[in-house]
Amino acid sequence: PLIYVLNGPNLNLLGVREPAIYGSETLDDLRSRTEKAAAASGLTIEFRQSNIEGEIVNWVQEARGKAKGIIINAGAYTHTSVAILDALQAAELPVIEVHLSNIFRRDQFRQHSYVSLAATGVICGLGGKGYELAVAAMANILAASKA
Ligand code: DQA
Repeated sequence: PLIYVLNGPNLNLLGVREPAIYGSETLDDLRSRTEKAAAASGLTIEFRQSNIEGEIVNWVQEARGKAKGIIINAGAYTHTSVAILDALQAAELPVIEVHLSNIFRRDQFRQHSYVSLAATGVICGLGGKGYELAVAAMANILAASKA
């Protein structure tokens, strides 16, 4: 099964961006880590990043009919984007929301997520490991829906 792993704004700067919060791993490191976890779970991954809200909306729409699930770290759009929420709800796919940092331990404005309203589950605060856990959780969800 194909899973879209979508990353939002500024995540292209991983490794150089506020490493005390987001760690020293780059987005490419994160991609290979996620691909490895996917292979181990029998999943295939389409891993993408965009700084542009509408592009993420387009990718969520593309996933509908093509993918079996969506893993998304929408970055700051998590806290602002009704458009990404609407796209996720229209996709009718299992959605796992991931954040590298623990958004509940940070600024008040990060503690609300539009994405969560469409998410089957949420993982935050575990750094890049969260992406691996999301892949394993997605494999479980898909296996359970087949049973
Ligand atoms: C983030 C948390 C968001 O609040 C922030 O805007 C990001 C990254 C995370 O992965 O911890 O860009 O989604």
